[in-house]
Amino acid sequence: MLQSKTIEPLSIDFFAPDFKEHALTIYQGLRDQGAIHPIQTPWDEPAWFIVQYDAVQIALKDQKFLMSPQTVAPEHDANHLPEELDYFSHHLLTTDPPEHSRLRTLVHKAFTPRMIARLQTTVETICDQLLDEVTRSSNHTADLITQYAFPIPIIVISDMLGIPQKDRDLFREWSKAMLSVVNRPEVQKEVRPQLIALRNYLTDLFVERRNHPQEDLVSALIEAEDNGDRLSEEELYSMIMLLVIAGHETTVNLIGNGIYALLQHPDQLTLLKKSPSLINSTVEEILRYYSPVEMATNRWGGEAFSFEGQTISPGDLVLICIGSANRDKRRFTNPDQFDITRHPNPHLAFGMGIHYCLGAPLARLEGQIALPRLFDRLPNLQLDFKEESLPWQQDFLMRGLTHLPVHF
Ligand code: HEM
Repeated sequence: MLQSKTIEPLSIDFFAPDFKEHALTIYQGLRDQGAIHPIQTPWDEPAWFIVQYDAVQIALKDQKFLMSPQTVAPEHDANHLPEELDYFSHHLLTTDPPEHSRLRTLVHKAFTPRMIARLQTTVETICDQLLDEVTRSSNHTADLITQYAFPIPIIVISDMLGIPQKDRDLFREWSKAMLSVVNRPEVQKEVRPQLIALRNYLTDLFVERRNHPQEDLVSALIEAEDNGDRLSEEELYSMIMLLVIAGHETTVNLIGNGIYALLQHPDQLTLLKKSPSLINSTVEEILRYYSPVEMATNRWGGEAFSFEGQTISPGDLVLICIGSANRDKRRFTNPDQFDITRHPNPHLAFGMGIHYCLGAPLARLEGQIALPRLFDRLPNLQLDFKEESLPWQQDFLMRGLTHLPVHF
């Protein structure tokens, strides 16, 4: 039971159509009043909302905040996933130690820096091919979300997993179906056939890779072994799904938000063009300024303990706002300024602690290649928004644009 020592819970309508437009201002107001606030969520559940940088950092690391609430809030277990995604319920973001440590050790053996470094040329080729298509447009317009930011990560993940070229389009369709269910469970009936097809496809792929291992992530995950321990079949499905889901929309948003932030700040884009070596700090600044994951995965209080002057009770829902921490003036000088030379830039966009993003090196690589390539090929890129307000997706966990119309 959520008990605040201070104020009445504040109602925050994360689902309001214009929430994203005002979110950063709302977070700022909350940060100025304190590190943690009792709120009422739009799905009518009380929750703690953590907004200041230091508190967010501590909460992400503190294992008293649980990912898997079986014992303290069983009604929240299994992530409300539909039946077709049952096999997706046991992975890194739904487990706590010691189970999480076991999975992470096994996955680490497969997801190596060597494997990521090998993807550099692949990412370059993918970006070039997509840009070839974009530049073919006879009226010199494009939507850079659908035509550029969206396809890059899914093609990269398919390549990394070792999905054969001939199956890429199908795999992409099924993955899109799966992403749509995670975002909007009400569409589950419509996409049930695709989800079943995806599962069957993976079952066959596991058999094939067990018999004929290749230099790809599916083979590496099957072979990963730690003291005789291996991933079970269910864990393999879950891990692959997690990589597709966690690695897709996040990276789409990094690329989309990055294009937008640079076009919105032409002085910074000019600076980047003059000093291409600033690309690494540019990507870090995009991650901070428009954090693709605005809210960390839900946590629950595992035991009663005191946090920033409030008592967190077992089963309390806790929302940790990364997007707010990354704009906190207590940690960043001029936090609302987009500055591609910012140094140091200790943003929390990839989380912190034991759940720190496994795909961070890959996401950075994709951003560091996709952005300069786009601005090289289309030097006179201009935004073409017709709407008065930006088309931010209505997804309170993420920050990303639904479309990004441009002309060149
Ligand atoms: C810009 C892109 C990305 C961002 C902003 C991002 C952000 C995050 C964040 C904030 C977390 C921690 C969540 C929490 O503690 O609640 C996380 C975890 C994770 N991410 Fe990413 N991510 C990105 C790309 C990727 C990619 C490309 C992959 C893989 C292909 C990936 C795989 C994962 C996995 C497996 C975890 C769970 C780690 C664990 O629980 O041990 N992510 N990510």
